[in-house]
Amino acid sequence: MADRIHHDGVLIVGAGLAGLSAALAAAPRSVLLLTGAPLNQGCSSAWAQGGMAAALGDDDAPALHAADTIAAGAGLVDSAMAHLLAKEGPAAVRHLADLGAPFDRDAAGQFATSLEAAHSRSRVARVKGDQAGRAIMEAVVQTALSSRHIEVRAGMRLRGVLHDAGGRVRGVVAEQAGRLIEITAPATLFATGGIGGLYSVTTTPAELQGEGLALAALAGATIADPEFVQFHPTAIDIGRDPAPLATEALRGEGARLINAAGEFFMAGYHPDAELAPRDVVARAIHAELAAGRGAFLDARAAVGAHFPEEFPAVFAACLSGGVDPRVQPIPVAPACHYHMGGIVTDANGQTSLEGLFAAGECASTGVHGANRLASNSLLEAAVFGTRAGKAAREQREAASGPLRRILTPDLPPEALAALRIGMSRDAGVVRDAAGLGNLLGEIDRFEAAHGRAGPLVAARLVAQCALDREESRGGHYRSDFPEPLAPKRTFVTFADLKSDDP
Ligand code: SIN
Repeated sequence: MADRIHHDGVLIVGAGLAGLSAALAAAPRSVLLLTGAPLNQGCSSAWAQGGMAAALGDDDAPALHAADTIAAGAGLVDSAMAHLLAKEGPAAVRHLADLGAPFDRDAAGQFATSLEAAHSRSRVARVKGDQAGRAIMEAVVQTALSSRHIEVRAGMRLRGVLHDAGGRVRGVVAEQAGRLIEITAPATLFATGGIGGLYSVTTTPAELQGEGLALAALAGATIADPEFVQFHPTAIDIGRDPAPLATEALRGEGARLINAAGEFFMAGYHPDAELAPRDVVARAIHAELAAGRGAFLDARAAVGAHFPEEFPAVFAACLSGGVDPRVQPIPVAPACHYHMGGIVTDANGQTSLEGLFAAGECASTGVHGANRLASNSLLEAAVFGTRAGKAAREQREAASGPLRRILTPDLPPEALAALRIGMSRDAGVVRDAAGLGNLLGEIDRFEAAHGRAGPLVAARLVAQCALDREESRGGHYRSDFPEPLAPKRTFVTFADLKSDDP
């Protein structure tokens, strides 16, 4: 018998930038915020390095930012959403600065910005060099902790979702210290992050295994574009899990990619070389590594002695792996970095299920299309998290009825480890029908043995939709279908996927 709590406000699961932005925006309605890890730990937001993209400069405009977002998304971006994101971007950055986020400033006191790949302007607002995520989150966490309408409960793991006979989501089941607790509320908001932990090479916290995505899917929510996973080209390859990131801003500063023979290989893959779209750079590095030529980011000339001040987080990560980036090239490899797909929402975070909102990486607003533009993720979390929080606070109690619960079982560690290897191998940077079929067979076997665990549901969404998309576009590259077809987003429910009840 589970304990039961009723919260008469907004129930938020996840305490990254999207969850906290939603919590702050839900005021004056009370918020119960559930998080697994303590605040500011275990979320991808705090690990972001480059910064937050916004049209802040005199030479920039939201329309240009939107155009870059749409171009990077390879035909699948929802243009209205991209324009909304870009338009609300500068105010979102200023709001975070007002909350205390110590954005870097130039000599004139304006926001200091970096150039990143596929941006036509230098528009990534930096914080403390390469520590944007941590510094922004510190400011937002402090604000949340001093906000009387927000109650934070840490150590709560999302295990299930509660719904009524009409399909309206009524709350969640969380596990705390081995005990299940049913928590009901008029509005439930998922800000549960991405799926990096489904891959054996990832730049995100390994705990992020798509649990929110999976539970929303099992409850019947519409999911968009789950096959679109972004692989960051330059994770630092020093044998760590998760892999530390070497921010794209390094390439913006002029760092070059070389192979073990010292050849600058990017020009052979794309005219924009190191500043080509992220998916192109990731595939080029994948190809160099697959051919046994090695891949390194050489920042000796571009950054050199300034490394400790300019890129302190990357510098520390490199040193921890025995690499001094001032004098040595950094070994790099592509790693799962961001999930473009997710739970479909409108501009206010409303999912296809009544009572359920979503924001941040677990959501799909359509703003990222097939390939997210660099440094649009913190921006999306802030803009759409805020919008979702405002919409969720308007929800009132619906008529009650018996509650049904959907629970996901645990996946044993050895099965999770095998799944992660399979995902990196078969649903990674380069995919084909044989590999994806093999992966789906593995997912079937794990499901038969262990039940419909969250990581298996999320992995199935990625793998099945990657198999069904017989083209290459953005982050989804099929070696057996290398050309693009007419652009078309994927919209599925879990029931649409071929999966027998375990
Ligand atoms: C980076 O700093 O390279 C990552 C930025 C992002 O993923 O948006």
